[in-house]
Amino acid sequence: MGSLSGRRIVLGVTGSIAAYKSALVVRELVKAGAQVRVVMTPGAKEFITPLTLGTLSGQAVHSALTEDRDSGTWTDHVELGLWGDVVLVAPATAHTLSGMVEGRGDSLLLTVLLSAKCPVVVAPAMDRDMFTHAATTDNLETLRQRGVHIIEPDTGELASGLSGKGRMAEPDRIRQELTEWFRSQAPLMGYRALITSGPTREPIDAVRFIGNRSSGRQGAAIALELARRGMLVDYISGPSSIPTDHPGIRRVDVETALDMKAAAEAAMAHALPDAVIGTAAVADVRPATTISGKAAKTDLPDAISMVPNPDILAGINAVVSPECFKVGFALAHGNGQEAALRKLEAKNCDMIVLNSITDKGAGFEHTTNRVDFVYGPDRIDSFELKTKEAVAEDLANEVQRQLLLRAPLKQSGR
Ligand code: C5P
Repeated sequence: MGSLSGRRIVLGVTGSIAAYKSALVVRELVKAGAQVRVVMTPGAKEFITPLTLGTLSGQAVHSALTEDRDSGTWTDHVELGLWGDVVLVAPATAHTLSGMVEGRGDSLLLTVLLSAKCPVVVAPAMDRDMFTHAATTDNLETLRQRGVHIIEPDTGELASGLSGKGRMAEPDRIRQELTEWFRSQAPLMGYRALITSGPTREPIDAVRFIGNRSSGRQGAAIALELARRGMLVDYISGPSSIPTDHPGIRRVDVETALDMKAAAEAAMAHALPDAVIGTAAVADVRPATTISGKAAKTDLPDAISMVPNPDILAGINAVVSPECFKVGFALAHGNGQEAALRKLEAKNCDMIVLNSITDKGAGFEHTTNRVDFVYGPDRIDSFELKTKEAVAEDLANEVQRQLLLRAPLKQSGR
């Protein structure tokens, strides 16, 4: 499956002679599995008809800000901008490029570009002298700095009869570059992660429990960062109010360690993960019996006998594939390196993320963390104090490095 499969592409077509090639661009994208909605500038319609592009894309083509003057309906440029995973402008004329730089809204396409939340890719097409003019070069540089990806034009014979750089990239190169670009945006597409997060609550009776102060913030940040990089994340969370809204995250909320274990096993029965990250602060023990209903104060026992909880991470790590990258967390009091090394072995992890509650700003109830990545006695990488989101990025970088080494062929689009 190529990485254009299922992608939603808003294709902007502007008034260049290269607009005739947009028909082939639409065909290439649709053949690769993408959904395409075309927005044409009025100029583009001089070169190719909406009927052609509408037929090839299988979707209505939009070009006017007002759909129908008499009915008073307008084209919802905001909806179009929000629908797309990317806006691809191919061909992009000097006129539309300068409109993008200035933030003008005098065509439907420009208003879509102004309201789009998704990234933008442009494939410029113009005559050699227009392309090399300082205005165009400056505009492209400004757009590049704003994060717009530019598919460089080809050098060759131009419609004017001149020869030089300015000819729009051929449709198959546009498809290839767009595929590459999507992959660079979501380098972990095709991989799956299983994350446990948050505390667990072990009931004493219907209202009282044994738990801990874990917020679930670090696990949530890791889930979001991995999902942004394209991973499908099974996220099993103990009670936590930290949101993890992302289409790539499948969240299951649980209360107890036993529920967390069952949810992890259910996720694995569906599909085995390529990376396991145990951030959960699982209660080590649970009351041997739970009192039904709410016990009256006078009925509370003097002592509660406890039984150990299963080690969820060790259980998961015993059944995943050998290529799976397995990460555990260890919360230490003081220097916990010895304990981290023991956990590395006992839980069959490839790496332990060590954090210490005695480090200022680290551990539970902080928005920051200070961690060491412990791979073995000879390799411990230390990081400075940073936000939990930044720690998640460091960890995601490591997950990415490991997965591309361990299972490179799983990456979508290869
Ligand atoms: O043994 P300890 O609790 O210190 O180990 C911490 C690591 O093991 C964390 O990654 C935690 O999520 C995981 N763990 C687990 N199940 C337990 C205890 C810990 O998955 N019962």
